[in-house]
Amino acid sequence: MKKIVVLFSGNGTNLENIAKKLHKKHLLITKAITNNPHAKGIERAKRLGIEVEIIDHKKFTSREEFDKALIEVIKKEAPNLIVLAGFMRILTPLFIKTFPTTINIHPSLLPLFKGANALERSFKSPMKVAGVTVHWVEEELDGGEIIDQACLYKKGLKFEEFKEKIHELEYELYPKVILEILQKE
Ligand code: GRF
Repeated sequence: MKKIVVLFSGNGTNLENIAKKLHKKHLLITKAITNNPHAKGIERAKRLGIEVEIIDHKKFTSREEFDKALIEVIKKEAPNLIVLAGFMRILTPLFIKTFPTTINIHPSLLPLFKGANALERSFKSPMKVAGVTVHWVEEELDGGEIIDQACLYKKGLKFEEFKEKIHELEYELYPKVILEILQKE
């Protein structure tokens, strides 16, 4: 079975969704790694039998040093693909060079609303459609090549409804794209 490593920082619902749909059925999540010792996703992952490793970025003097520790841990797993799921650290060129097969999911129709608070900015924009994007991770934040997208009509939605629908799109799209990439490998 192909192997993936998932990186997360917070709630971990995408990690949970990927684990429920794919782990041990279509692939192995050999490890989930978080930079945040208080991430809610830690419990979610453990409940599903996924091994979690905490690499607290605050213990490192620079982004590069943190990435070196991350690289060391990931190399041992020898994953076919690295999946960012709500991972809130900007990765250095060293990481990207070491692992060019890293993907991310972003809650907007890129190239619109790159960076932080994309969900809120997408909601507040005058646009009538919104969506989610899966892309390769490259040096520019949320600027890597787009792999796939899904969209919705947002006119009339309240923020909470909007947020829920965006997450539903993520839960459909991300596992599908992960499998597509692994099948092509
Ligand atoms: C998702 O909306 C994802 O698009 C963004 O961060 C959020 C993570 O949510 N990159 P969760 O931690 O998976 O619940």
